[in-house]
Amino acid sequence: MTALSVIGCGYLGAVHAACMAKLGHDVVGIDVDEAKIASLQAGRAPFFEPGFPELLAESLATGRLSFTTDMAPAQGRSVHFVCVGTPQRAGEFAADLRYVDASVDSLAPFLSPGDLVVGKSTVPVGTAARLTEVVQAVQPEANLAWNPEFLREGFAVKDTLTPDRLVYGLPAGAAGDRAKQQLDEVYATPLSTGTPLVTADLATAELVKAAANSFLATKISFINAMAEVCEATGADVTLLADAIGHDPRIGRRFLNAGLGFGGGCLPKDIRAFMARAGELGADQALTFLREIDAINMRRRVRMVDLAREVCGGSIVGARIAVLGAAFKPDSDDIRDSPALNVSAQMQLQGATVVVTDPEAVTNARKQWPGLRFADTVDEAAAGADLVLLLTEWREYVEIDPTELGRIVGEKRMLDGRNALQPSVWRSAGWTYRALGRP
Ligand SMILES: NC(=O)c1ccc[n+]([C@@H]2O[C@H](COP(=O)([O-])OP(=O)(O)OC[C@H]3O[C@@H](n4cnc5c(N)ncnc54)[C@H](O)[C@@H]3O)[C@@H](O)[C@H]2O)c1
Repeated sequence: MTALSVIGCGYLGAVHAACMAKLGHDVVGIDVDEAKIASLQAGRAPFFEPGFPELLAESLATGRLSFTTDMAPAQGRSVHFVCVGTPQRAGEFAADLRYVDASVDSLAPFLSPGDLVVGKSTVPVGTAARLTEVVQAVQPEANLAWNPEFLREGFAVKDTLTPDRLVYGLPAGAAGDRAKQQLDEVYATPLSTGTPLVTADLATAELVKAAANSFLATKISFINAMAEVCEATGADVTLLADAIGHDPRIGRRFLNAGLGFGGGCLPKDIRAFMARAGELGADQALTFLREIDAINMRRRVRMVDLAREVCGGSIVGARIAVLGAAFKPDSDDIRDSPALNVSAQMQLQGATVVVTDPEAVTNARKQWPGLRFADTVDEAAAGADLVLLLTEWREYVEIDPTELGRIVGEKRMLDGRNALQPSVWRSAGWTYRALGRP
């Protein structure tokens, strides 16, 4: 058992803290957000993540997990995970590192010789080396490692308890050997089941995360670029994806054309990567990411154009129901949500938009007070001239078109996620349209 602190208790940190306690460690979760900490202390998940409420209750009951806004309880613990946010800087592509800097500054005075600070936040390459100096200026005998996180929201508990790989970015020499030993103790359970482990220098570990997200974004924008061409020719991008996906070198996963990616990671991570490459004089290497970003953002505009087309050339005064507000199903995360982006565009262009989502309405209402929200599909779709499926929650994918047809004003469905069966909807009398398919 290791005594740990986890600094930053958002989507990543709260799950990490509870999972580490479940793995047998003694954990204190620390965050500056008092409401979030009060909620976690009371055993209430401050966000929606499948399996997290149960895990939180179970881990709190062991007595090995606590939460606080005070940094002092980090003292005397030997490993400290930094899990704070690294959003996009306003008006720039670069990452805003103020939270990472603030958390390390406030942790440093509580470090003891031999302690290991472990970065998990996604940061520009070079951050770990800089933070090592910050830490060692205060506690020369402490070390710093980088251990990027690959969890997916919606699967965060499973991905943390049984990750598909572990990456350690380690300092050189004996400090690196000791850091590896400390991390091996923390991750003894997943390592014992054969989880692949890659050990690297600090810079490589930081780059692994940026590279992984860039690859995933590229795969999505690639198929969405194919969708644009399919739209110009009347071809079907879902059949195209099935066909090329049979090639194991390509693979079918993450090859679903649609409204594209959003959320608190991919968009800001590829932009921060471009910004950092520019600083390093390697900007040419990543100019393709600019196109990946542009393809992705174009899908949102295309979705609004398609809505206009289906409504006969204008959405002014149209009553539009949007199914989905979260950036992906099984999450209440609305950061850079494509669904809300499209909803807001349609609203600004004169439609009356009513958005529903199983979990994300509370968050969405705070960020977009100008939109209308409904708690149920029936409420959102009542009398609608058009329905858009923009987040593929299972309950939306399973909607019976005949039943929904009795509620709406006009049977028009725009499937922004290529998640519905066109023939089923069409045979129930709906006009069905989707991105990249006839
Ligand atoms: N969410 C994901 O799926 C995911 C996956 C992999 C990596 N990441 C990365 O992990 C990091 C965190 O992401 P997130 O989604 O959990 O963000 P989040 O916004 O949900 O959580 C960040 C937390 O850090 C806290 N915080 C800010 N400053 C602090 C300080 N000085 N001391 C203590 N706490 C502080 C905030 O109050 C907040 O609760 C980001 O770098 C992100 O890119 C996220």
